[in-house]
Amino acid sequence: MDVIIVENAAAVAEHAAARIAARIAEKPNAVLGVATGSSPLGTYEALATRVTAGELDCSAVSAFALDEYVGLPLTHPESYHEVIRTTVTEPLGIDAARVHVPDGGAVDLEAAGADYERRIRDAGGVDLQLLGIGANGHIGFNEPCSSFASRTRVKTLAPQTRADNARFFDGIDDVPLHCITQGLGTILDARELLLVAQGEAKADAVAAMVEGPLASICPASALQLHAQATVIIDRSAASKLRLIDYYEHVQRNKPAVRVAAGV
Ligand code: F6R
Repeated sequence: MDVIIVENAAAVAEHAAARIAARIAEKPNAVLGVATGSSPLGTYEALATRVTAGELDCSAVSAFALDEYVGLPLTHPESYHEVIRTTVTEPLGIDAARVHVPDGGAVDLEAAGADYERRIRDAGGVDLQLLGIGANGHIGFNEPCSSFASRTRVKTLAPQTRADNARFFDGIDDVPLHCITQGLGTILDARELLLVAQGEAKADAVAAMVEGPLASICPASALQLHAQATVIIDRSAASKLRLIDYYEHVQRNKPAVRVAAGV
């Protein structure tokens, strides 16, 4: 796992956006996996700035969201359909027909999960998956003890996740109990993973993900199984890492070929 430690949240966003923009420049019809929540918002804003400046063209890009709440109307401002539309699809100029979010309103949620997996496969798989991490180590909404082999399916949100996400709603009781989320197996199938995290509240989860045992109690530890996983974090989120000096040493001494590629 490549661990990149930067000064602050703005630098996390800039670094992640540079990486994603480089991938889209290499492959204009790239398939992006997109996360919701607060963590990637700065990255989306930094990408949107490039689009507005004419430096980046996302018109041929496809996008797949990680997850969706079950039972929220699609037009609810906190439905991930709506959040992805306002934070990703429109600001980045992605064709809405190529943006996919799991169907949390489906009568048959199992079939909706299978259909989502099929759509990802039909698009050729995800080239780069952007991820945030929950304070309990979840990625997507794969709560602790999710199977590393799991595919898109219904999950019950952990009380901590509902409490963490209550800030987006009028209160915790308004946060749905269930969600439909890409599985850890689905996420691991992406060709590249890029996780961003900022702030002290993520420090324990980041340490468990990077340096803890591979164990489903920390679902994000699944990144240890991926050959192209990069974690971009600020100093606060990095504060509980034991090998912080080593990660910085690695960053200062990148093999020449990667330095030349600028990523
Ligand atoms: C959202 C998602 C979640 C969030 C995580 C962190 O699509 O997949 O795993 O990334 O809950 O949320 P924030 O960024 O709001 O702290």
